[in-house]
Amino acid sequence: GPELAALVAGGAVDVLDFPKPGIVFKDLMPFFGDGPRFRQVVDGIVTHYGAGSFDVVAGVEARGFLIAAAIAYATGVGVVPVRKAGKLPRPGFSASYALEYGEATLEVSEDAFVAGQRVLVVDDVLATGGTAAATMDLVERAGGVLTGFTVLMELGFLNGRERLSPRKVHALLTV
Ligand code: PRP
Ligand code: MG
Repeated sequence: GPELAALVAGGAVDVLDFPKPGIVFKDLMPFFGDGPRFRQVVDGIVTHYGAGSFDVVAGVEARGFLIAAAIAYATGVGVVPVRKAGKLPRPGFSASYALEYGEATLEVSEDAFVAGQRVLVVDDVLATGGTAAATMDLVERAGGVLTGFTVLMELGFLNGRERLSPRKVHALLTV
């Protein structure tokens, strides 16, 4: 609700011209650095989905890891890291997505999920949706069943939500 949105907004700092001119970067590190703020938002996400509605949490490297581990710990489930390319020690699935220039690849270990496991996918920000689309693709290819996708902040003007449709997106704050 509006209280959680305010908690996220209060921990976000707009950084002009990062990583390049014309981009307004949403820096959420003050949010993560604020204990009560972080805890209330993590608890709010757990309440939204309901503890027991997912079997494992998948977080996207790097900033998604912070939230995923907290939700997993709070609910007593495991956490699966969806990694940037080249980091996995054993065979995995990979999915590539377009960046403004070039492409990026995410990977998840082949045995990351037990078939049919219900997976909550989390990240900090939904922008174009490329990261999220690749992640959800990986989760399903690895045998997981998507329970939901949640982000702290959605950049509405980039239409990531439409790109991910019909999959549901839960955003605590949309800007
Ligand atoms: C940022 C952010 C999301 C992604 C969203 O991650 O943390 O994961 O971009 O963008 P998209 O919706 O357009 O795909 P980034 O790849 O910058 O790396 P980081 O999390 O490792 O900092
Ligand atoms: Mg990221």
